[in-house]
Amino acid sequence: MKILLVGNGGREHALAWKLLQSPGVEVVFCAPGNGGTQTLAGCENLAVAVEDIAGLVAAAQDRSVDLVVVGPEVPLALGLADVCRAQGIPVFGPGRQGAQVEASKAWAKALMMEAGVPTAQAQIFREPGPAEAFVRRQGAPVVIKADGLAAGKGVTVARTVEEALGAIRGAFGGLFGQAGETVLVEEYLEGEEISLLALTDGRTIQPLLAVQDHKRIGEGDTGANTGGMGTYCPLPQVDDRLRQKITTQVLEPTLRALQERGIDYRGVLYAGLMITPGGQIKVIEFNCRFGDPETQVLMPLLATPLADLLLACAEQRLDRQPPLAWHPGAAACVILAAAGYPGAYQRGGPITGLAAAAAAGALVFHSGTQVQAGNLVTDGGRVLGVTGQGPDLRAAFQSAYQAVDLVHFAGKYYRRDIGHRVLG
Ligand code: AMP
Ligand code: GLY
Repeated sequence: MKILLVGNGGREHALAWKLLQSPGVEVVFCAPGNGGTQTLAGCENLAVAVEDIAGLVAAAQDRSVDLVVVGPEVPLALGLADVCRAQGIPVFGPGRQGAQVEASKAWAKALMMEAGVPTAQAQIFREPGPAEAFVRRQGAPVVIKADGLAAGKGVTVARTVEEALGAIRGAFGGLFGQAGETVLVEEYLEGEEISLLALTDGRTIQPLLAVQDHKRIGEGDTGANTGGMGTYCPLPQVDDRLRQKITTQVLEPTLRALQERGIDYRGVLYAGLMITPGGQIKVIEFNCRFGDPETQVLMPLLATPLADLLLACAEQRLDRQPPLAWHPGAAACVILAAAGYPGAYQRGGPITGLAAAAAAGALVFHSGTQVQAGNLVTDGGRVLGVTGQGPDLRAAFQSAYQAVDLVHFAGKYYRRDIGHRVLG
């Protein structure tokens, strides 16, 4: 089987690594890929950008691939999966309409209300005046969200009314371009945040293991939101009963609501959830793709061959697949970022120590790297994800942090407290 994998992050490196372990996979083309996919045996980078829909479809056709797997949300929101399907190319990822679960928070909120899915209360505004008046009446804490895709920067958890008003002015002032022309003012939810990703072929839905991601840049879950600074799995806080409850209260009704709208959704439905102190489940957001760095802990633990599974979703035969199998034990991923991230940061610094980290038993997935004149250098805000494994979470974290110390680049920043909620 030949596969075209779209994207250039740690998620794609982990997916490529896992796809290449599936029996029958000859080659994974990664467009555009990064230094990690470039140096992975069996993987070949293609210089096509994720927004270049025509270029990606041409690459899939030229290389006669059997499956296209789409990593990021942007090409999905641009309709890559629709074009592939129209050309008869099996594709893992929803079409443009389905991608609205992530690409429009107002659309997703309406879908959840329609489906009776528990979520934070929200009001939708298209002008600043009424939004500001609402926030003044409502008070803080309150959450302000730009409707559209804003590369993870469109959400402000405002502790004060002033901060909320600033976020509203920023969004309507064009800070996020079109993404901020509509703004949601949302109830602040307290609790523990988890990610539950599910695979679906549009008819059947199969949840993966629940993962916890630490989204804030600072230790103690403080500071700016990021794409994610570290993950771990499985979660002692989420037993089979809770996972089943999320499946019946969130995943299944959402899939039914999509079907009722005539949307053929094949790919990942990622539910970002808050488990409130009272044990209630509330959806914070949906994503239409694998999480990053959730994927870096899910792939090492998944025992089922990934290529078969994703092709079964693309071809609507997930119901005929055996139940998902998982390796025993736990996995933990610590992200190494460039100093300054999620703000401005430098690129191009040499990276060393990866062989030592691998020899110590860790998996290092590249988030933002490239090979320049034969040398691996930094090329993003999140640079590497170091995943450790072990019989339990404590051992997995120990392995990850040991390897983190072996990897070097100028300005290396990471959180030392990933997993603090379970490790104590
Ligand atoms: P989102 O892009 O919607 O996932 O929001 C980014 C982050 O903001 C989430 O991962 C949460 O940590 C936080 N957040 C979003 N919505 C809420 C909410 N209603 N209450 C509390 N925190 C939230
Ligand atoms: N790690 C959060 C995300 O992928 O959206």
